[in-house]
Amino acid sequence: MPHDRHPAGQRVRLALVGFGSWGPNYARVLNELPDAQLTVVCDRRPDRLALARDRHRAVSTCDNLDDLFARDDVDALVIATPASTHEELVRIALHNGRHVLVEKPMALNVDGCNALYDLAESAGRVLMVGYTFLYNGGVRKMKECMRPDEFGRPYYLHATRTNLGPIRQDVNAVWDLAPHDIAIFNYLLDEQPLWASAIGTRVLRTTRDDVAFATLGYSSDVVGNIHVSWTDPDKVREVVAVGSRRRVVFNDLNDGERVRVFERGVSAGEAIVDSYGEFKLLVRDGDIVSPKIEPSEPLKNQCLDFVASIVTGRPQLAKGRFGLGVVRTLAAIEASMRLRGAAVEV
Ligand SMILES: NC(=O)c1ccc[n+]([C@@H]2O[C@H](COP(=O)([O-])OP(=O)(O)OC[C@H]3O[C@@H](n4cnc5c(N)ncnc54)[C@H](O)[C@@H]3O)[C@@H](O)[C@H]2O)c1
Repeated sequence: MPHDRHPAGQRVRLALVGFGSWGPNYARVLNELPDAQLTVVCDRRPDRLALARDRHRAVSTCDNLDDLFARDDVDALVIATPASTHEELVRIALHNGRHVLVEKPMALNVDGCNALYDLAESAGRVLMVGYTFLYNGGVRKMKECMRPDEFGRPYYLHATRTNLGPIRQDVNAVWDLAPHDIAIFNYLLDEQPLWASAIGTRVLRTTRDDVAFATLGYSSDVVGNIHVSWTDPDKVREVVAVGSRRRVVFNDLNDGERVRVFERGVSAGEAIVDSYGEFKLLVRDGDIVSPKIEPSEPLKNQCLDFVASIVTGRPQLAKGRFGLGVVRTLAAIEASMRLRGAAVEV
């Protein structure tokens, strides 16, 4: 169902909830949007509100949602609070008739996620999850480089997201980091995984898994592997896709060469006559190239898409219940970790 249209010619007035580590990036970007205006910043912590006022003189601040919803200058909320608070905050925002852009993950279980989509639909409001990487020029380029005629048959994907923290107090490393990679895989392959198998470990001896290795099974035997860690001193943000004709790599930390394409691959040719089911291997050898990527800020692209969706009614890039597929996968990974790696249906 399309949501209620925003009044023509009126800027979308936005409130930012959560001005911790990530929120200030939103505040900066929201202030730069042509059809929108950041009117309020809400955070529980007075020191964060003082910083927000210092950086953004025209913005009001408040420390609770009641005060926020009592205002008449808030059409939409951008929520950048810890993951465990998202579901409740989104529900309250929708009940109060506001559009919502919430950081990933939207909820920590599939039912919660479904209920929020239903609520947004019945309230006629936009509900969007911040899958920033779908708005990353490098990931978009990667998808272009994976067109079937050039990439061949997809073999497998591999993602690494490691660093020393930041260690979360409310969710494990999978719920914190893997939403990005699952979203990227699903976007690149245009589908959701069928099953997940994962092992997690608690090297810091806390109550949450800080390291995990998750394998996702897609159709046609395509496998996606994700490694996340809060305890690896080497910061890596990399996604690799290997196909029969090409290998494509996205490295978010390499500004000069964000995407590299290896024009190389191996595929099985015709069966060797008189052999026992063996195939001739066809090896393709070529250049390694790094395609040009137009500079743009992913977070800004994402916020532009949110505002455009409110103003024009057009769907966002991550259409429909894209976020539900990610949360279903996270839940399956978590269930598999409890079963020490047994495959769990997504
Ligand atoms: N897309 C990305 O690349 C990316 C990067 C970093 C963080 N994130 C996401 O952004 C979210 C926030 O992360 P962070 O690192 O900024 O966390 P943080 O803990 O540094 O900041 C959270 C802020 O929210 C405030 N807060 C908590 N509950 C609140 C409530 N009920 N009402 C108002 N304020 C409240 C806290 O006081 C704090 O200032 C997380 O969901 C995280 O996963 C996304």
